[in-house]
Amino acid sequence: MPVTDDPRLIDLTPEDYPRIKDLDDTVWFEVVPGQTPEDLRDHLDLRHARALERTGEPLPGEAPTDRPPLVGIYSAYDMAVTVPGPRDTLTRVPIDGLTWVGIHPDHRRKGLLTRLMKDHLHRVHDRAECAVAGLHASEAAIYGRFGYGCSSLDVKLTLGRGAELTAPPAVAEAADGVQLHMVTLPTEQGMAALHEAHLASAATTLGAVTRPDAMALTWWRDYPKARGEKEKRRLLLARRDGRLTGYAALRRESKWDDATPQGTVQVVELAAADDPTLLALVRRLVSFDLTSKVTLWSRSVDDPVMWWAGGPRSVDLRAYDSLWLRLVDVPRALTERGYAAACDVVLEVEDALCPWNAGRWRLAVDTDGRATCASTDEVPDLTVPVALLGAAYGGGRSLASQVPTLGGTEHTPGAVRQLSRAMRADTEPYGAIGF
Ligand SMILES: CC(C)(COP(=O)(O)OP(=O)(O)OC[C@H]1O[C@@H](n2cnc3c(N)ncnc32)[C@H](O)[C@@H]1OP(=O)(O)O)[C@@H](O)C(=O)NCCC(=O)NCCS
Repeated sequence: MPVTDDPRLIDLTPEDYPRIKDLDDTVWFEVVPGQTPEDLRDHLDLRHARALERTGEPLPGEAPTDRPPLVGIYSAYDMAVTVPGPRDTLTRVPIDGLTWVGIHPDHRRKGLLTRLMKDHLHRVHDRAECAVAGLHASEAAIYGRFGYGCSSLDVKLTLGRGAELTAPPAVAEAADGVQLHMVTLPTEQGMAALHEAHLASAATTLGAVTRPDAMALTWWRDYPKARGEKEKRRLLLARRDGRLTGYAALRRESKWDDATPQGTVQVVELAAADDPTLLALVRRLVSFDLTSKVTLWSRSVDDPVMWWAGGPRSVDLRAYDSLWLRLVDVPRALTERGYAAACDVVLEVEDALCPWNAGRWRLAVDTDGRATCASTDEVPDLTVPVALLGAAYGGGRSLASQVPTLGGTEHTPGAVRQLSRAMRADTEPYGAIGF
């Protein structure tokens, strides 16, 4: 088959918003009433966006356009994720958060996503702004082939109104001192406060992903026509000692059944810098008048909220794959995070898509949990597909438990366990925010 560069890979400018919107509406068929092409300015980072442009004449039935249609697109945001730091600390690592991935239905399964993914990962590498890429997958089967591993779960907890939350006395007493108030989004002041609380919470929350500062004021844009009868989003803010220490972004939906209030509360983001703040926020969330249940998204598999409420039998719990991570620069990524224990292993990394990663790396972690990682000719202790390192990177899903599903070969007995223990965090990660 002849090699062809059709369709053409291009950068995007604001003049492309109409054809970006055409493609996006066709791929996702989630039309947002009231949204215009120019509104994409608030949602897309054009610095990271690339697209595939169809070449050739218009097809029968197509209206003529100034510019040829787009048949594929991706973009990304400058984000960060909280991962294990040296020993028992946490650290924040920048990630390139892939988003807006779509291929026109006429052009799917012809290798176009594969072309875009190679372009994306090579550009992340060339820009060298971050060593790790992340994403949410629309379907779990797509991204493993591109070297991504699922690093955290999104646990959805549903609690009944008035759920009793039993926490240790010290936490409960401190929660009494947390001040809460509610504001309506989106306002400049509300978004700024949300972003402050978002960053404060992420510093202490394993798995937390933060949105870029540059989008703090636009991320929660409201489209009144699309919102329809629903209420505006509300923001519940928590303060301790005069500082913002947590928040919940929520929307209630009114419902009555047989003269009985059955409203629901959907909490898309709930984050806290400490346990008393979390307890105070959830106490308030389960006590809204005229509601019967509250759903909390992006929680963790060992969430304190679940245990305060009585454990998995007392809450309705569902789990989904959340953040997928991909090491774009293996030695840099492995030294940017910290480790729970000393470790010294030679890794043979397999990475067909990012060949600069493929080869042998000696990962040496000292007793303080700090690593060096350098190219080596030594005999490997274990061979790992790059996706295995991505899945274990966040400290939640252990490397050892994922060898059966992602692959990996141990050459030196004990090497998997040694690396696995060093990479593992003490707590379970939280699901990532949507992006
Ligand atoms: C998912 C999507 C991007 C795939 O694009 P595509 O151009 O068809 O993908 P490719 O042709 O490059 O496929 C590459 C490989 O992934 C596989 N693949 C693609 N989409 C898949 C899916 N949804 N489930 C399982 N495998 C999938 C292909 O079968 C192919 O496998 P192969 O290498 O073994 O032949 C496209 O179908 C789409 O836009 N879907 C709707 C929007 C969406 O889900 N976007 C992803 C957002 S996270």
